[in-house]
Amino acid sequence: MAASFLPLPLLLLLLLLLLPAQALNQDGLHLLDAKRALTVPAPALADWNPRDATPCNWTGVACHDHDGAVTAISLPRLNLAGSFPAALCRIPGLRSIDLSDNYIGPDLDVARCRALQRLDLSINALVGPLPDALADLPDLIYLNLQSNNFSGPIPESFARFAKLQSLSLVYNLLDGKVPPFLGRVATLRELNLSYNPFAPGPVPPQLGDLSALRVLWLAGCNLVGTIPPSLGRLTNLTDLDLSTNALTGPIPPEITGLTSAVQIELYNNSLTGPIPTGFGNLQDLRGIDFAMNRLHGAIPEDLFHAPRLETLHLYANALTGPVPESVAKAPSLLELRLFANSLNGTLPADLGRNTPLVCLDISDNAISGEIPPGICDRGELEELLMLDNRLSGRIPDALGRCRRLRRVRLSNNRLAGDVPDAVWGLPHMSLLELNDNHLTGQISPVIAGAANLSKLVLSNNRLTGAIPSEIGSVSKLYELSAGGNMLSGPLPSSLGGLAELGRLVLRNNSLSGQLLRGIESWKKLSELNLADNGFTGSIPPELGDLPVLNYLDLSGNELSGEVPVQLENLKLNQFNVSNNQLRGPLPPQYATEAYRSSFLGNPELCGEIAGLCGGDPQSKKNYHPGFAWMMRSIFIFAAAILVAGVAWFYWRYRTFNRSKLRADRSKWTLTSFHKLSFSEYEILDCLDEDNVIGSGASGKVYKAVLSNGEVVAVKKLWSVAAVENGGGEGSAADDSFEAEVRTLGKIRHKNIVKLWCCCAHKECKLLVYEYMPNGSLGDVLHSSKAGLLDWGTRYKIALDAAEGLSYLHHDCVPAIVHRDVKSNNILLDAELSARVADFGVAKVVEAKSMSVIAGSCGYIAPEYAYTLRVNEKSDTYSFGVVLLELVTGKPPVDPEFGEKDLVKWVCSTLEQKGVEHVLDSRLDMSCFKEEMVRVLNIGLQCASSLPINRPAMRRVVKMLQEVRGEGRPRVDKDGKLSPYYCEDASDQGSSV
Ligand SMILES: *[C@@H]1O[C@H](CO)[C@@H](O)[C@H](O)[C@H]1NC(C)=O
Ligand SMILES: *[C@@H]1O[C@H](CO)[C@@H](O)[C@H](O)[C@H]1NC(C)=O
Repeated sequence: MAASFLPLPLLLLLLLLLLPAQALNQDGLHLLDAKRALTVPAPALADWNPRDATPCNWTGVACHDHDGAVTAISLPRLNLAGSFPAALCRIPGLRSIDLSDNYIGPDLDVARCRALQRLDLSINALVGPLPDALADLPDLIYLNLQSNNFSGPIPESFARFAKLQSLSLVYNLLDGKVPPFLGRVATLRELNLSYNPFAPGPVPPQLGDLSALRVLWLAGCNLVGTIPPSLGRLTNLTDLDLSTNALTGPIPPEITGLTSAVQIELYNNSLTGPIPTGFGNLQDLRGIDFAMNRLHGAIPEDLFHAPRLETLHLYANALTGPVPESVAKAPSLLELRLFANSLNGTLPADLGRNTPLVCLDISDNAISGEIPPGICDRGELEELLMLDNRLSGRIPDALGRCRRLRRVRLSNNRLAGDVPDAVWGLPHMSLLELNDNHLTGQISPVIAGAANLSKLVLSNNRLTGAIPSEIGSVSKLYELSAGGNMLSGPLPSSLGGLAELGRLVLRNNSLSGQLLRGIESWKKLSELNLADNGFTGSIPPELGDLPVLNYLDLSGNELSGEVPVQLENLKLNQFNVSNNQLRGPLPPQYATEAYRSSFLGNPELCGEIAGLCGGDPQSKKNYHPGFAWMMRSIFIFAAAILVAGVAWFYWRYRTFNRSKLRADRSKWTLTSFHKLSFSEYEILDCLDEDNVIGSGASGKVYKAVLSNGEVVAVKKLWSVAAVENGGGEGSAADDSFEAEVRTLGKIRHKNIVKLWCCCAHKECKLLVYEYMPNGSLGDVLHSSKAGLLDWGTRYKIALDAAEGLSYLHHDCVPAIVHRDVKSNNILLDAELSARVADFGVAKVVEAKSMSVIAGSCGYIAPEYAYTLRVNEKSDTYSFGVVLLELVTGKPPVDPEFGEKDLVKWVCSTLEQKGVEHVLDSRLDMSCFKEEMVRVLNIGLQCASSLPINRPAMRRVVKMLQEVRGEGRPRVDKDGKLSPYYCEDASDQGSSV
């Protein structure tokens, strides 16, 4: 009996012991499946423990309070990679998924996520068309897919959303038009479609039916036509953004019916007509931006009645009439930017008394009268920009009490009287520009208090007196321009201690005394212009030691003595010591005809330059006239022969080349990747040696202007392979070329140069690209045009190029390694936006000729020397070098660096001299130093000698965005962000 009774409970007990204490529930198992389907870099999700009973305590998981069912997953910014884990959709109660800012992609399958209410997949790597299945999720309220690479049109299924309140598709690659059918999603409160490459199309009037809409963002959507008045019906709308499109016609008065509006942005369109009245009634309106249009007529008086209006941007229009009196009563106005219009009349006399203005910019108008005396009565003013107007009277004394002022630009007016003393010494002022007025008085010694002053421009006024020695305390001074005044006395010796000084222009004054000697601190001085004063004594030899001086004008003084031979150390673009009393021999380097005008008007200065000495005809006596005539004839004859020879050769070469290309047109094969509006034959006709715009390792580039006016760039690849391979292998090589080029042709990204098509004929291959009018970054940056590239532009170029490369590495399947990243392969369009060019072409070429080494000198990653293999991280290295070029303005290799390349030069200079000696001195250091230092550091990290230490391009993009983004880490006060990502200086072994 007992024997048959006992075993059953024992068996049960045994079973219980064998089973895990509590098995993980089904939701938890689905989560683990999802985790397995993703690449999850440690330590993310380390606490997802399979031995837990429920997943409710796991990172990013939320459960229902009562039944413990999983309701929400939130895993942003964990570097998760892989397609969307469909296993999540098997969790029946899952209502919210946030996987934003990861590398989710390429696929998105959510068809089974039936309970989903919120889906956030912004900033990921999703590609292809938007899935129809999204619209069939019955409870979906919130859908955020911004910053992916979705392409194609917005599917018609998107009209079906039943409950959707918020839709964001910002920053994708969507084409087609902004669809009218979205007007049927009546539940929508937020619709954000900005910055997609849509085809030109109108703002659908049907969007006016979305009565619940609060936010409508259609910036950068290629919109054309007029703004539909129906939008004025959106009485719940708080944010309307139609900026950066090509909208025309007037602003419909109906828009003033947006009674809930907080922000209305219509800037950067082609809108015309007057600004309608009625905006003043909008009780919540804080910001209006209608800048960069063609609006005309007067600024409506009632605009400033809007009680909460804080910012008003109407700059770059054709507005006329005066600034309305009502502005002086605007209770909340902080920022008023009206520059570049045709405004006239005077400013309201009490402007600033009742208004907490922080920034006022009325530059480039025809405004007259005085600067309102109470402009800074509320003490908040930081920027006062009024240049290029007709303002008269004095600079108000009260400005001297305006302690927060940072930028004051009053140049090109008719201001007169003395500059109020206290204005010189304002502690936060970084830019004080008063040139081209009628100002009198002296530069006050209180300037010693201007601790942040970087640019002081006083040229063409009537300032008198001596430059005070207190100027030596303005330690951040970069530019002092005070030419065309009546300044007198000697240069204060303290001026020589200003280590930041880059430009010193005091030409055309009455300064006297000797030139400064103790000037070792002038390490950044690039321009020194002391022309037309009364300086005496000799030219200090120390000038020859200034490392970056390239503009030196000491003409029109009373300088004596010899031209110091030390000046031969300088690389001068402008050199003028004419009209002094210099004497003696010229330094040999300058004793050439090219410098003749540099030395004129010094009667006792002698040199090899014919006729220089005192302009005295006697000095030509060394030449026998007959001898000179003979020499001249021989020279002319030789030159004529040379010209004829070159012309003949050129003609032969051209005819030969053209006829070869045109021969047998029928044998050309054309592979096109876009709809083309030209034929391959037309391209062939343009391959004229006159049209060559560049030549590189892989081929020659032509600019071709087609009959329809379109311009393309044609790259003719060098035909190494055909010769080497012989006939037999030719077709196999051709196939691989075709396959490769086909991959390249499929690529669509705003930061990658479009490959229109490819033509091939035997050994000749042509790649036809979109034409980029501003040429390459390398050409612009390392030429005299570098001035075009201010820091903002350079930063944007860095980000654009990084995004292009990131797309090649992370969003293309298979990934594409560029192999030849360099500033010459980053092209600039008309707006100076950057696009990556020539990607993968190195590979196309290399496949046929293994002897071609990919990469360019100065950009080649160190590992290439020992592995001869390149991968994405090699591109990252090269991109790091490009970042360093942008920050330093220096080329990747330069005689200045000696044996070093740019990376090593940056590291050693950082270590020995500090960051100021690395950054490009042409950039505005006062505002952007912090950003430049941060980009420098990213560049160094990219150029790490070990590939594993280099960030992926995806990461580089984010790091660059963070440079300007919010919440960026701060650098120390002195601009240091330590440690710099430099490797041990002794680590030199791996250099190529
Ligand atoms: C979650 O963790 C807390 C403390 O860490 C613990 O008290 C609780 O029992 C855990 N809950 C579950 C469901 O595991
Ligand atoms: C507009 O907003 C108000 C207040 O938030 C709300 O009560 C009303 O339902 C909204 N109108 C529509 C059509 O959604």
